[in-house]
Amino acid sequence: MRVLLGVTGGIAAYKVALVVRRLKEDGHSVRVIPTESSLQFVGRATWEALTGEPARSGTFENVPSVEHIMLGQRADVVLIAPATANFLASMAAGEARDLLGNALLATTAPVVVAPAMHSEMWRNPATEANIATLVARGVHVIEPAVGRLTGADSGPGRLPEPEDLVAALYAVAGRMQIDTHAASAATREWGDLGDVRVVISAGGTREPIDAVRFLGNRSSGHQGFALAEAARERGADVTVVAANVSLPLGEGISRIDVETSSELADAVRSAASGADVVIMAAAVADFRPAESSAVKIKKDGHPRVLELVETEDILRSLIESKSSHQIMVGFAAETGDGAGSVLDHGRAKAVRKGADLLVVNPVGATVGFGNVPTAVTILDATGEVVGTSSGTKLVVAHAILDQVAARLPR
Ligand code: CTP
Repeated sequence: MRVLLGVTGGIAAYKVALVVRRLKEDGHSVRVIPTESSLQFVGRATWEALTGEPARSGTFENVPSVEHIMLGQRADVVLIAPATANFLASMAAGEARDLLGNALLATTAPVVVAPAMHSEMWRNPATEANIATLVARGVHVIEPAVGRLTGADSGPGRLPEPEDLVAALYAVAGRMQIDTHAASAATREWGDLGDVRVVISAGGTREPIDAVRFLGNRSSGHQGFALAEAARERGADVTVVAANVSLPLGEGISRIDVETSSELADAVRSAASGADVVIMAAAVADFRPAESSAVKIKKDGHPRVLELVETEDILRSLIESKSSHQIMVGFAAETGDGAGSVLDHGRAKAVRKGADLLVVNPVGATVGFGNVPTAVTILDATGEVVGTSSGTKLVVAHAILDQVAARLPR
């Protein structure tokens, strides 16, 4: 399972390193979000080395991946250990001060907190009220142990021993029917696309009519770019072939800019030769002008007829020449018509194209394009529905990548 571990600023943070080690030994995938003050006790390097994952604290680190939402959304279970009195107050107030506060607001996974503080702070009515608020919201609170505290004092407030924290976490996960077995852990890793080479086409092609005019479409590139960011965050080696996209891409993603369908075909074909996964999210022109003028065409008082010829079906030719391990993903932006619904057209296209996955989404002048919420149905090569997803394009991107990850050879 994917465990999101929040570490807040108490001296007991050192014990949590052993929690991480145990979870990793059991085959789970762990992402640590240390608060800034916790770094006074245990450094970021410890968490990154133990988990093999980045351990960021700030909301404004790695912004293109929208990590403050993604980490909460993808977690199977969340553990906060140690949870300081200050952090419990912030959590009870629903504050989103830092990456951990944001992730907690974004998650629907069970949340387990392990408070650790001096006995006076634990018994303070303010802390008791905060704990009561959290329990009322369904947060699972592990009672602090009684014993030696940081100074000469002793009493309730000690962070329980690492094995007790792990046992409590497994008990909550088990009750919520989250699979805690190591055998199924591999498909639920934070970095489940580690070392997978992914090529993504994005945007919309432009087919020149003359020196200044073109045939284009409304595609903005948002869905393809969200896929790229999500795939990179999951550990993939990502190349984007961007057709007329004015959006920025995060660091560590290779970008090839193209304009026409034939440039896109060449760029995708050459990138695809070494790829494990190809995702054709671009809206590729089906037709282009038979001829394009190198100079601007002037009006002369006569009607003009534009002769169009079909472009190459890039996805089809990639599928025809693909190697057996490659996963091909197509998109079908449909409006539905008298001949069938969006899904009817999607099913027919899935069978006709033979892609491993076909992502079907409704589009029109006012739906589907741009940085707006979307809804998709994911079909397999036989036209069977294997998943649905709705929400931001990043949420949908992760749902598509879940299907891709499930089909990768292990
Ligand atoms: N596609 C492609 N090359 C083209 C046209 C489309 O590779 N010349 C890809 C798109 O990137 C998308 C999928 O094929 O992943 C489906 O595109 P779409 O235009 O919906 O399909 P068409 O086969 O062109 O069918 P339609 O007749 O509905 O336009």
